[in-house]
Amino acid sequence: MENFVFQNPTKILFGRGMEDHVGEETAFYSKKVLLHYGGGSIKSSGLYDRVMASLKKAGVSWIELGGVKPNPRFSLVQEGIRLAKENQLGLILAVGGGSVIDSAKAIAMGAVIDGNVWDFYMGKGAPQSALPVGTVLTIPAAGSESSTGTVITNEEGWLKRSVNSELLYPRFSILNPELAFSLPKFQVACGVTDIMAHLMERYFTNVPHVSFTDRLIEATMKTLINQAPLVLEDPRNYDAWAEIMWAGTIAHNNLLNTGRIGDWASHDIEHEISGIYDVAHGAGLAVVFPAWMKYVWHHDVNRFAQWAVRVWNVDMDVFNPEAVALQGIARLEAFSKSMGLGTRLADLGIKDDRIDEMADKCTNGNTHTVGNFVPLDRNAIREILRLAE
Ligand code: NZQ
Ligand code: ZN
Repeated sequence: MENFVFQNPTKILFGRGMEDHVGEETAFYSKKVLLHYGGGSIKSSGLYDRVMASLKKAGVSWIELGGVKPNPRFSLVQEGIRLAKENQLGLILAVGGGSVIDSAKAIAMGAVIDGNVWDFYMGKGAPQSALPVGTVLTIPAAGSESSTGTVITNEEGWLKRSVNSELLYPRFSILNPELAFSLPKFQVACGVTDIMAHLMERYFTNVPHVSFTDRLIEATMKTLINQAPLVLEDPRNYDAWAEIMWAGTIAHNNLLNTGRIGDWASHDIEHEISGIYDVAHGAGLAVVFPAWMKYVWHHDVNRFAQWAVRVWNVDMDVFNPEAVALQGIARLEAFSKSMGLGTRLADLGIKDDRIDEMADKCTNGNTHTVGNFVPLDRNAIREILRLAE
């Protein structure tokens, strides 16, 4: 096991009705905030009205900025930064999914600097401070509600890039599983796939003696595999949503990578796909992850076989762990399909004509490799994308 420091400071308020506390949680930090949200789901669900009522009750005033798109855009971030600076806002309140939260984090960094916040996304410098962010989560998926990450797409060049900083842990996140009842089935599938991906990125590691966190990750994966069909069958199954929502937060709050070194190549490759083609992150991962696995499984057959046996209930065959490993990958693909997702680029309507461009962008012109389990150069990424065809 590697040395590690673990501290996740995000205060979680979990359960029915918890959004009614958003006013008091916000007021603790500021009485004048930016209320940031997406394309309207919070209005049709009634959440918007409840959040406003709670803010009013706590004496918090706000400026609104809606319209965050999935794969959140840099242009709206700039608008948010302008509003935050002009009105001297003290907190960015994100009500929505990972896209809204990531956009809020970008605004929080940009509001306290004179320069261009995009520089951080391009690896030029790191944030030294940020406004506090609070969240009311409406979809279990990205884990941004208690992560250090923000992922933004810049329309100039359609680059989708991330920043990770401990300054970006939300100060509080409100998780009411009922808020997920209104999710379309496609978003449910994408969210579950993203959570699975956060677990698999951590699971496939070269660090030995990590059996404790192996078991925690396996348990979290099994939870998703068991609970996802229940919410797809009955979108109002509170108990199943509660399991998925809490699993989604834990999957990405850094607890499960303590002492390990995760991979993250599949995420980097997927960001190139959703950057160019604007597909949902989870839908892209359902395509990239199995292809990545087919490319790297030889590197550690035993780890793949262990995953297949413990997570997917494949029968162990000590004389043929290769077949066991491949069966695990097949079951992952079958799981995605059972939720209605495709597992090939063609299923996303993507042809092979920009594979070279994606591999090139992902490695910045082959100047660096991607991933830790097996470091991948431009050629390797091309191969993986071909396996996804
Ligand atoms: O915009 P609205 O109208 O709210 O609709 C959204 C959106 O269309 C809808 N939705 C959300 N909650 C709903 C709902 N519809 C009905 N009822 C509800 N309760 O779902 C759609 C997708 O929302 P989005 O926020 O884009 O989804 P998600 O949470 O999956 O976030 C995806 C983004 O997060 C990034 C991804 O790359 C992607 O850009 N990620 C962020 C990470 C992080 N910050 O740590 C890590 C992840 O790996 C990921 O890369
Ligand atoms: Zn993800």
